[in-house]
Amino acid sequence: MQLRAAPHGALGGRIRVPGDKSISHRSLMLAGLAVGESRVSGLLEGEDVIATARAMRALGCAVEREGDGEWTVHGRGTAGMAEPADVLDMGNAGTGARLLMGILAGHAFTTTITGDASLRSRPMGRIREPLERMGAMFMARRGDRLPLALRGSDTLLPIDYESPVASAQVKSAVMLAGLHAAGRTTVTEPLPSRDHTERMLTAMGASIESEPLADGRLRVSVTGQQELHPQRFVVPGDPSSAAFPLAAAVLRAKTPVTIEGISVNPLRIGLVTTLREMGASITFANERTVAGEPVADLVVEAAELRGIEVPAARVPSMVDEYPVLSVVAAFAGGETIMRGLAELRVKETDRLAVMADGLARCGVDVRIEGDDLIVRGGAATRKATIDAKLDHRIAMSFLVLGGLGREPVTVSGAEAIDTSFPGFGTLMNGLGADITKAVSS
Ligand code: S3P
Repeated sequence: MQLRAAPHGALGGRIRVPGDKSISHRSLMLAGLAVGESRVSGLLEGEDVIATARAMRALGCAVEREGDGEWTVHGRGTAGMAEPADVLDMGNAGTGARLLMGILAGHAFTTTITGDASLRSRPMGRIREPLERMGAMFMARRGDRLPLALRGSDTLLPIDYESPVASAQVKSAVMLAGLHAAGRTTVTEPLPSRDHTERMLTAMGASIESEPLADGRLRVSVTGQQELHPQRFVVPGDPSSAAFPLAAAVLRAKTPVTIEGISVNPLRIGLVTTLREMGASITFANERTVAGEPVADLVVEAAELRGIEVPAARVPSMVDEYPVLSVVAAFAGGETIMRGLAELRVKETDRLAVMADGLARCGVDVRIEGDDLIVRGGAATRKATIDAKLDHRIAMSFLVLGGLGREPVTVSGAEAIDTSFPGFGTLMNGLGADITKAVSS
């Protein structure tokens, strides 16, 4: 499917974006590990999370949709999963696939996991390595790619793992495996990554300790073999989805754009910090705590933006937001230098290369130096067609660019958007954007 975004004028209005993807995956998985019935409200019903729901069913959990975003999960206990009868296809869902491996590591049966072409190209060695140390066994394609077979163990060893990357997927997979181990499993990460697993497990009664170290690292530990209590999970709006209307609004909201009920977890809102440094007007209204997550309405008004240098230390708190930040940077004054983006190379696509290439096609002055992305603002953009390459955030970023620029942008493979943001076009158009289905040539 092709979508075409034509340049739009002023934006304004109030919207709600779909539920947070990270918290949605975790709600279904953690509910499956509890003993008894959990309820989830506001679940993101995008393809990624549906793949996780299917996987939890394949492991024997009763997972039911009761209404819009309303789900129930009947958990079987941390050690209670059943051997799936078939291969688990996780589609495009990296979080789904990797966190599931943490659960499966503690079960003494074999599971085969696959995914779409994008997921099959992503490295799984970062999960395999710590889980093998704990006692799980893997057989994978060259380069630790999917499909892979994983044989878990019901006698996992607790480990003290020094993760080479600040990745919440790695941290969470080890913690989920740690729920099965006899003793305390510890993960230290070079910089703190999103902490939803820690918050949710704590709410479920697990003993979790989180200790920021003096050198900036974070050490988290979990005690294994405890019972998890079922919960009423309430999923807030996804800051990584809010990023797209936010990016358009910081430049074009002539009347305020309000994005309601967004998670403003400090480990997720690096984009807000960055846009404010660039001169954006973003305020938090109606701040509250919902099911353990800080939540607020984002109120945005247009401002002139200037280029800045974004430090590498900010990557974990906005890792998924660089594609759309690079679009905003194209319309700011001066240069924006985004440092230390190596992790972007192993996302749904090599986002560093794909963004630089797509921005250049649209007429933006852009370059990559090592792992840094440098965008010169003041772009007079031109008409282009961009292939989303199975990457939802690439698709949405270029549709935002088409709206802000001088010429329309067409995105092919735009169905990828449904992995995280069903209804994206309609919602953007409600604010004043002009996104339509394009006839393929
Ligand atoms: C996620 C963590 C991030 C992020 C992904 C979701 C999660 O990946 O890019 O979209 O839910 O834990 P890494 O932890 O690998 O950086």
